[in-house]
Amino acid sequence: MADDRLIVALDVATMEQLKNLVTTLGDSVSYYKVGMELFYAAGAQTVTYLQEQGKSVFLDLKLHDIPNTVAQGVTSLTRLGAKLITLHSQGGPVMMAAAAKAATEAAEKLQVERPKLLAVTVLTSFDDDAWTAIGGQLPIRDQVLRLAKLAKESGMDGVVASPLEAKAIREVCGDDFLIVTPGIRPSFAAANDQKRIATPKNALADGASKLVIGRPITKAENPQEAVRLIVEEMEAI
Ligand code: C5P
Repeated sequence: MADDRLIVALDVATMEQLKNLVTTLGDSVSYYKVGMELFYAAGAQTVTYLQEQGKSVFLDLKLHDIPNTVAQGVTSLTRLGAKLITLHSQGGPVMMAAAAKAATEAAEKLQVERPKLLAVTVLTSFDDDAWTAIGGQLPIRDQVLRLAKLAKESGMDGVVASPLEAKAIREVCGDDFLIVTPGIRPSFAAANDQKRIATPKNALADGASKLVIGRPITKAENPQEAVRLIVEEMEAI
């Protein structure tokens, strides 16, 4: 049985590459993340294909628009079958509440499991200069916690966060809040361009619910073996 706390990031641009990876990883992985690159290139068939293979899909499109538009978007993605959907908490409490209501109503109507909504707080690519440039007032870390709390109060099921923020978010938002963390590097892997990283074990110990991992698996010489080693690290906690 695959460990569904591991989500593999499908950072590829074609259906063919997607199918190759999913075939290579076989039963060792049950959860995949489809992001903008793949979804904008290959569209809804990516999700349909993964579902046909019995996989769960995290659709990471980071919705951010007026409440009605985001709600309609969430309805469409629920219909498509996404299990996790991201949106920007900076869209505000009304937008998040509208999204949560849309997910509940669409799932009830379709008699499917309600997708979980994950808020993005402050993108980890922000540094202090960029943050000041857009008028950020609080220190970034405080803003992350403020938005995580607001996301919870507005009906979000969790957040996407750096593993280094997981502990503080867990303290503020409690145990029944999903914390999904990218920026994970198992002990055997190269950091690539990730800077604020944690091992699978440390991220889980700090309160992460699920881990999103891309290149340490997708670029590994033996991807199945990479998954096996990562799951071993995850289970060592
Ligand atoms: O290859 P790697 O493990 O770095 O991939 C991590 C995935 O998580 C990528 O899809 C990346 O876009 C995403 N991500 C991230 N850091 C964030 C948000 C998303 O690495 N702060």
